Amino acid sequence: MLADKDRIFTNLYGLHDWGLDGAMERGSWRHTGDYVANGRDWIIDQMKASGLRGRGGAGFPTGLKWSFMPKESDGRPHYLVVNADESEPGTCKDREIMRHDPHLLVEGCVIAGFAMGAHTAFIYVRGEFIRERERLQAAVDQCYEAGLLGKDTKHGWDFDVIVHHGAGAYICGEETALLESLEGKKGMPRLKPPFPAAVGVYGCPSTVNNVESIAVAPTILRKGPAWFAGMGPEKNVGTKLFCISGHVERPCTVEEEMGITFRDLVETHCGGVRGGWDNLLAVIPGGASVPLLPAEQCEDLVMDFDTLRGLKSGLGTAAVIVMDKSTDIVKAIARLSYFYKHESCGQCTPCREGTGWMWRVLERMAEGRARRHEIDMLLEVTYQVEGHTICALGDAAAWPVQGLIRHFRPEIERRIDAYAAGETVVAVPALEAAE
Ligand SMILES: Cc1cc2nc3c(=O)[nH]c(=O)nc-3n(C[C@H](O)[C@H](O)[C@H](O)COP(=O)(O)O)c2cc1C
Ligand code: SF4
Repeated sequence: MLADKDRIFTNLYGLHDWGLDGAMERGSWRHTGDYVANGRDWIIDQMKASGLRGRGGAGFPTGLKWSFMPKESDGRPHYLVVNADESEPGTCKDREIMRHDPHLLVEGCVIAGFAMGAHTAFIYVRGEFIRERERLQAAVDQCYEAGLLGKDTKHGWDFDVIVHHGAGAYICGEETALLESLEGKKGMPRLKPPFPAAVGVYGCPSTVNNVESIAVAPTILRKGPAWFAGMGPEKNVGTKLFCISGHVERPCTVEEEMGITFRDLVETHCGGVRGGWDNLLAVIPGGASVPLLPAEQCEDLVMDFDTLRGLKSGLGTAAVIVMDKSTDIVKAIARLSYFYKHESCGQCTPCREGTGWMWRVLERMAEGRARRHEIDMLLEVTYQVEGHTICALGDAAAWPVQGLIRHFRPEIERRIDAYAAGETVVAVPALEAAE
């Protein structure tokens, strides 16, 4: 279990003062001026040495990403864009940061912005997050009043933070769709290249980072990169906010060391799987977009980017969705397919047509109204969508279906056979939940 002294988010549950005074007591804004005095390259080197990988889903190294920004301005301003869209089903961590520890994020914006030569950060907040946006704005206002934002700041770097409220579309979490939306256009992903570091918001060099990636930066500098890199398995280091939902006794969001096992996570923090460990059916370990893993693979499952990728799943946003044996697993994945169909922006044919096609077939399969050969046909369609689209929503729609077929093909076949034989099709084993 993560020691309290190693926690970054010391007010995750809102038990203390979220405001500037409380945040300063907990260490925020301490030494910020010294970090600015040390220079851009120093900060980027520290972030690289810390081994932090982006917390928005893909796990791209944060320090490296910051180093892609031009060293000198060619006349265009540089921008930091913080992705607070948090729409990946199962994910509920960035909202806790904005509600309860907003100053970690605001200070992180100054540090990251300075490291990339930006004087402005836009924080793009998910449309549904009304209270989170209000709290974040209040924290930003406190910083302007205290001389921590604006001109002639106490730390020596002029910096503005603009909180922008989205309208509530999953696709606006995709970084280039987010930039389009920020510019006031429809949230439709852009083709890359050019990448945002060359042409981002308003045609200027920009870097898009997740809320958690930015909010951990000040503490990494304060405690030192070696401290962060010393936790968790190699190349998967640091602490991480895990959001555990579904069939556990006590769903929660908790900061833990990377590399914790799934079993430890649910038993230490969530009171265990509903009905006991043996009642586990499957887990989606990183938000709706990643393939599920069956219970057999969860026994000693290590929660980090590389282990989960090795199992053909992913850590994603670390949104852990637990499903016990009462789950109708085919119906559950069909429901996720419906989500991707609904959220597809429609620009690319494989995604626009494929997401609806996958959903309709899965709906039939959940009831057994299909033929066995359609399982392979469905799998083939997922491969036609994956990697053939402008943005990764296409992959996100394909992967859960692939996970279902990889691990639960016999259950799909059983339903098809039962339906063909005129039997009633029910999820097996039914009603084992300890409700
Ligand atoms: C469909 C889609 C939705 C996404 N939604 C989010 C989101 O809500 N929040 C987020 O931080 N990243 C989201 N991402 C990932 C972003 O595109 C981007 O990789 C991320 O913000 C980079 O931050 P990081 O490097 O700090 O991880 C999404 C990606 C896709 C394809
Ligand atoms: S993959 Fe889907 S969501 Fe992404 S750009 Fe293409 S149609 Fe839009």
